[in-house]
Amino acid sequence: MAFPESKLKMLKNITVIALVAFGSPCLGKISSAKPQMGWNTWNTFKSHINQSLIENTASTLVSTGLARAGYEYVVIDEGWQAYTRDANGRQQANSTTFPSGISGVAKYIHKLSLKVGIYSDAGIYDCGFFPGSYGYEELDAKTYASWGVDYLKYDNCGGFQANTLSAQERFTIMGNSLKNSGRDIFYSLCQWGNQFPWFWADQFSDSYRMSGDITSSFAADKSGVCKTAYCLNTGYAGVSVLTMIRKMREISGFQAPGSWADMDMLEIGTGTMTEFEEQTHFSFWAALKSPLIIGADITTISKSSLAILLNKDAIAISQDNAGVAASYLPDLSIEGSVQIWAGPLSTGNSKYVILALNEGQSGVNITIPLNGIFKPENLGARYKARDVWDRKNLGTIESDITLTNVSSHQTKLLVLSRE
Ligand SMILES: *[C@@H]1O[C@H](CO)[C@@H](O)[C@H](O)[C@H]1NC(C)=O
Ligand SMILES: *[C@@H]1O[C@H](CO)[C@@H](O)[C@H](O)[C@H]1NC(C)=O
Ligand SMILES: *[C@@H]1O[C@H](CO)[C@@H](O)[C@H](O)[C@H]1NC(C)=O
Ligand SMILES: *[C@@H]1O[C@H](CO)[C@@H](O)[C@H](O)[C@H]1NC(C)=O
Repeated sequence: MAFPESKLKMLKNITVIALVAFGSPCLGKISSAKPQMGWNTWNTFKSHINQSLIENTASTLVSTGLARAGYEYVVIDEGWQAYTRDANGRQQANSTTFPSGISGVAKYIHKLSLKVGIYSDAGIYDCGFFPGSYGYEELDAKTYASWGVDYLKYDNCGGFQANTLSAQERFTIMGNSLKNSGRDIFYSLCQWGNQFPWFWADQFSDSYRMSGDITSSFAADKSGVCKTAYCLNTGYAGVSVLTMIRKMREISGFQAPGSWADMDMLEIGTGTMTEFEEQTHFSFWAALKSPLIIGADITTISKSSLAILLNKDAIAISQDNAGVAASYLPDLSIEGSVQIWAGPLSTGNSKYVILALNEGQSGVNITIPLNGIFKPENLGARYKARDVWDRKNLGTIESDITLTNVSSHQTKLLVLSRE
């Protein structure tokens, strides 16, 4: 492939070797060989959540086929907690909204063969002024383990400005606490891309957010949101789908099994995007190896949104064994009108994913020369091409791929297999 050589990967390996030398307890972290899949309360319900909502949604994951398709984590975001710790200093669920506590909900979810996620924060308070885990990491990790929790989303609000510990240090403490908790708990960092976690989060987490919160919008950002990976946010939330994709140009090369850059929960089915826009959203989250965590109310989701979430070929791209994200190909792209991304799939030289996103007017034709994608030694071969969203085979391709009549905001998602 004509992708930039991954010097970054080498850097990461050196970091790991250094950790071995220091006897870090953070090694052997293997729970995220593939990007995690599931559902999370936040995008639709914010902190207005309760036990029946969680249990109904867990059942619906099963009845819609989403569970069978791989969506296994039911993540309870902010709002499950009481405003105070109990007499023993433990975090506790709100006993009105969660009458069976988190352990009761976990039992229900486990009976469905699904896994349960919970939310806390590396500050004194979380973003909604519920108790954060700062200073209580060991106790909170043991409490979650005793409840049967399988996944922790760990946020970065509240009160930490008063002390001098960096985000990296605070997140490491919880990582170590989870490892000592006696239970295998997936560790999902949510620090909005602060301090560029693609350089360090793989040392102790299974996934890490690379940006401020997503918003249910294809192209319009909230003011203050910055557009590239390395500019500093003035606003933490309100990132559109297109901006999230833009930020991944600098980050996709860091994707590797073990710790995934997280483009935030999916806004598919939250009601602001066309079918083509939702396909674009899913295409990029899958091919860039973001976790696939549904944010919609799946009990009322439309058929077309559900079909996107269930598309087997698209899910297979996400869960592909190679764990390599597609890269942006500037030479084949035209800023503001066409973006071409591509990357290898599991069988290396013989299977590829290609994305062609039309940001401009509807009805354009896009031609992709294979010599802009493959290394010379892989040219001259014949490839079978499959159009994932049209669910049809495009025949054999030897040099150029021509895509006709591509609509505005549509992404053509292709899988090429060497014949
Ligand atoms: C639970 O939360 C959902 C979503 O906010 C709400 O519609 C429902 O009325 C709540 N149920 C109870 C029993 O509070
Ligand atoms: C539990 O949640 C309800 C509804 O949000 C709220 O009114 C109440 O204050 C909460 N209880 C505790 C103990 O935090
Ligand atoms: C796109 O290709 C089709 C089929 O070859 C052709 O009829 C059409 O005129 C082309 N459209 C544009 C905008 O070039
Ligand atoms: C182009 O695509 C649009 C949207 O899918 C479709 O409605 C239209 O019929 C197509 N036009 C042609 C000439 O195929």
